[in-house]
Amino acid sequence: MLKPIKLANRNFLSSLDISRAEIFHILDIASSFKNRNLNIEFKNKVLGLIFDKSSTRTRVSFQVAMSRLGGTTVDLNPLTSQIGRGEPIRDTARVMSRYCDVLAIRTFKQSDLEEYAKWSSRPVINALTDLEHPCQALADYMTIKEEFFDFKNVVLTFIGDGNNVAHSLILCGALLGVEIRIACPKGYEPNDLVINKAKKIYENENLLKITNEPITAVQGANVVYTDVWSSMGEENQKARKDKDFIGFTIDKDLMSKADKDAIILHCLPAYRSKEITEEVMESQKSRIFEQAENRMYAQQALLSCILS
Ligand code: CP
Ligand code: NVA
Repeated sequence: MLKPIKLANRNFLSSLDISRAEIFHILDIASSFKNRNLNIEFKNKVLGLIFDKSSTRTRVSFQVAMSRLGGTTVDLNPLTSQIGRGEPIRDTARVMSRYCDVLAIRTFKQSDLEEYAKWSSRPVINALTDLEHPCQALADYMTIKEEFFDFKNVVLTFIGDGNNVAHSLILCGALLGVEIRIACPKGYEPNDLVINKAKKIYENENLLKITNEPITAVQGANVVYTDVWSSMGEENQKARKDKDFIGFTIDKDLMSKADKDAIILHCLPAYRSKEITEEVMESQKSRIFEQAENRMYAQQALLSCILS
């Protein structure tokens, strides 16, 4: 029987906090959970969720994953806890980690997440920051592997804002050796530090391409991926970003340039007729809801390894 590798006391703050072999192992465990071939119990273990931003998928998939493992969750947000009145992270982290066995945190700055990890006596998981969304990337590559069986010769084109979701796709993709093309408007390119880290990991750094041309980027792609144009916390930039991203909508025309068997991914939530058309989102090529489902199995696998 497949056994979870031990990631005890390991944080998962970035896609780079686990190795290529560990990613493959987590994806195998996730598939076993999905196929009902694996039953692991972490009775009485508690996952603490601390979410400074809204969430449907991440929150619920973590809650259900933990419950499937026989454990339980507590869910804090700024309105119902002392976080909103400004209790320092170092105090919240020290207290929460005395109650819980692992923490999953969604916040704005990556440095705040790191501060939690510094003061927490238990492992901390990134449930999304402005910089990264590594749990999302695990489910994304699980969905890609289900479709194409491995990552060799897979071309993933991301069309949208070069921020958190794109960053984790890049970093996890670099570890897996996936060809990644990012197409974003000028000024919305991924963070240079992320690009440089990824290029150091790739055996062939030409596998990562950043462009401002969606049509070029999508030629022959096997996976076409998008995310919202305005992320949480950028609500006041919506009008400007809606203008800047004109020409970056995934529609039928753009999809006709991709490989004929290409699939479409979106981390959700989606704004139909902005980053993706209704027609494309609901098309046969979409694996968007399989991808959302896989969040639960990928996180169940991650938690199993961290709690082992
Ligand atoms: N994709 C994702 O993280 O969705 P939520 O914001 O609903 O958690
Ligand atoms: N880039 C988006 C992802 C949501 C899952 C955001 O940060 O709001």
